[in-house]
Amino acid sequence: MKITHFGHSAFLIEDLLIDPFITGNTQCKANAEDIACKIICVTHDHPDHIGDTIDIAKRNDATVVAVHELALGLQKEGVKTEGMNIGGMIEIGDWKIKMVKAEHSADVGRAAGLVLANSQYDKTVYHAGDTGLFGDMVLIGEEGTHIAILPIGGRYTMDETDALRAVDLLQPEIVIPMHYNTFPGIEADAEEFARQCVVPVEIFHCGEEKEV
Ligand code: NI
Ligand code: MN
Repeated sequence: MKITHFGHSAFLIEDLLIDPFITGNTQCKANAEDIACKIICVTHDHPDHIGDTIDIAKRNDATVVAVHELALGLQKEGVKTEGMNIGGMIEIGDWKIKMVKAEHSADVGRAAGLVLANSQYDKTVYHAGDTGLFGDMVLIGEEGTHIAILPIGGRYTMDETDALRAVDLLQPEIVIPMHYNTFPGIEADAEEFARQCVVPVEIFHCGEEKEV
C-alpha cells in the first residue's frame, strides 16, 4: 500500500487523501497543486486539517468525506461531499471508510478518527485525527488495525507517552507518528518514540512516499 506523508496529519494512501494541510505548513515544501486523489477525508474543521481541501477537491473532482455538519458546509462551497458520523461506514471506490470517535474539539460538528480498508490490500489503517488517549481504542484495535497513524505532539493531542499507551490498546503492526514539530508547542522526538515503541515505527519525512 503506497503511503505519502505531506507533514502534520496529511497523508495520501493510494487515491485517498487525509487532512491536506499543505499550504501554510512551513515544515513541508509539498505543493497542494501537485496532489492527485479521488477521495479526501477530513477529520475535523480546524485549519491545520481542512487545509487545502476545497482547492484539491475541486481540481481533482474528488469526493470529500467529513462529519455531517462539516460536509454540509463544504457542499455549499461547491465541493462533492459524503457526510457521515461516528460509528458509520461508507463505501467509495475501493475504500470502506468508517468514522470513529476522537477526543478533541471542532467548530462545526465534531472531531473524528478514521478506519480505512481498501479492497485491493489486506491492511486496515487507523488515522486517529486529533485526539487524546481514550480507552475505546481497544474496540478499534479489535477490528484489526494494521497501520496506526497517531499524533505524538502533545498540547492539542496525545503526546509520545500517551501514544505509546494507545499502541498498547490498538495492538497495530506498524505505527506512523504525526502532528508534531509543525509549529511551536507540539515538539516531539519521533526517533525516541520509535525506540520506546513495542511495534515497528515508520517515520516519514515530508513528501516522502513509502510502500507500507
Ligand atoms: Ni484540531
Ligand atoms: Mn490539529
